[in-house]
Amino acid sequence: MKGSRRSFLRTSGSLCLTSPLLASRAEAKTAPGNNAKKIRIGIIGVGGRGTGFLKASLQMGAVDVPALCDIRPEAVQQGADLVQKSLGYKPEAYTKGPTDYKRMVVRDDIDAVFVTTPTVWHGPMAVDSLHAHKWVFSEVPACNTLEEGWEIVKAAEQSNAGYFLAENYCFMRDNMMVLNMVEKGIFGTLTFAECGYIHEARTLQFNEDGSLTWRGELNSSKTLIGNTYPTHSLGPVSQWLGITRGDRLTHCTSMMSRSATFREYATQRFGPNSTGAKASWNGDTCNTLIQTESGMVIHLRFDIASPRPHNLTFYTLQGTGASYDDEAGMYIDGKSNGWESISGYYAQYDHPYWLKHSEQAKSAGHGGGDYFILQHFYRCIRENSTPGIDVYDAVTWSSLIPLSAKSILEKAAPQEIPDYTRGKWKVRRRFEWSKA
Ligand SMILES: NC(=O)c1ccc[n+]([C@@H]2O[C@H](COP(=O)([O-])OP(=O)(O)OC[C@H]3O[C@@H](n4cnc5c(N)ncnc54)[C@H](O)[C@@H]3O)[C@@H](O)[C@H]2O)c1
Repeated sequence: MKGSRRSFLRTSGSLCLTSPLLASRAEAKTAPGNNAKKIRIGIIGVGGRGTGFLKASLQMGAVDVPALCDIRPEAVQQGADLVQKSLGYKPEAYTKGPTDYKRMVVRDDIDAVFVTTPTVWHGPMAVDSLHAHKWVFSEVPACNTLEEGWEIVKAAEQSNAGYFLAENYCFMRDNMMVLNMVEKGIFGTLTFAECGYIHEARTLQFNEDGSLTWRGELNSSKTLIGNTYPTHSLGPVSQWLGITRGDRLTHCTSMMSRSATFREYATQRFGPNSTGAKASWNGDTCNTLIQTESGMVIHLRFDIASPRPHNLTFYTLQGTGASYDDEAGMYIDGKSNGWESISGYYAQYDHPYWLKHSEQAKSAGHGGGDYFILQHFYRCIRENSTPGIDVYDAVTWSSLIPLSAKSILEKAAPQEIPDYTRGKWKVRRRFEWSKA
């Protein structure tokens, strides 16, 4: 096996999860648009993701699109052309600057708002949309600060509409299969998980002229350091472990390497006096250890700088009964003959939710995940039910952004992870994806 990352830690961990308690979806809320045939959406940020969701939603025949918003009029124009072609009318455009979205979200002919802007905007845009009683489909992460997390929780608790974090990695086939196996008790008592977002993204930091894109600005910001993108990793793992639903993240500690790659890349491509060559970049790689209330340990890694082929999935899970490793395969104690291919387990353990929608999801991005998030969001609005990745999951996973930064600045000092559920994690049940 490609083992060096595995040797980072060999933990024995202690007691943890008992058999999962499955229950029906959380309490329904009243929301506008519940009886509407089509769901009426507005999109803030009609860039790569926003346009992708617009196209997919139009193809699904699921939506009306009364309004689109972007600071770039040409982005709204392109989106409007798609709507014109598909539905025969042009949405109203909101293009008067970075806070013009506020005018859009209060429209009374919109049920749901897509927040598909750069990450620094996710928190405020979600809060304003929830205050206007609009369902929120938020791109990841949910927010960048602990305070924003509390603001989103408060807004969601007061809103007539629901909040969904569009964490598409939760819906990849293997991640869903592992969830199914955990819930069937195959892994026994869980002790340890590893996860990481390791996606070399040097070119995404720079425009052709060497100036920084929004990603480049973010990754060279003095305040946003550490793990700035934790939810692709922590999302699936938190679902396996029942985080905010029977267990909770209690504290973490982080260390970060020096920054080297982005600066060297910028110097080579744009010269030693370029913005990128002089910028104060985030460290190349950040490692975080997280403890859970029940005694599990999670190793979370983040690296978008180091040159290496993209590893879309970077997960392991250890329990007393089985072990999963995205690279090595699956091992069930007493049954497997060493590591076995993950695909050999599909027939028996594919998640029913994944199976039900796999055909439609086939051509969608991120291993089908991009289809599942839309399907789930629209279903929750139609049924007026709380999404399976809700506001508490969203802000808990995202809290590792500011907490990793603080720990790094304090020489790996442990940081308390807020309990955004205010104790409800003890009674919250796992979401029943098999019924979704
Ligand atoms: N889940 C995934 O797999 C995945 C993949 C890629 C990106 N993302 C996330 O999706 C988000 C969008 O990424 P993208 O690749 O589409 O970026 P993008 O740059 O292609 O699109 C962002 C759009 O937001 C617009 N915008 C910026 N500030 C705005 C504001 N204040 N009001 C209105 N519009 C504004 C920009 O003009 C741009 O059109 C990011 O948060 C990113 O992290 C998630």
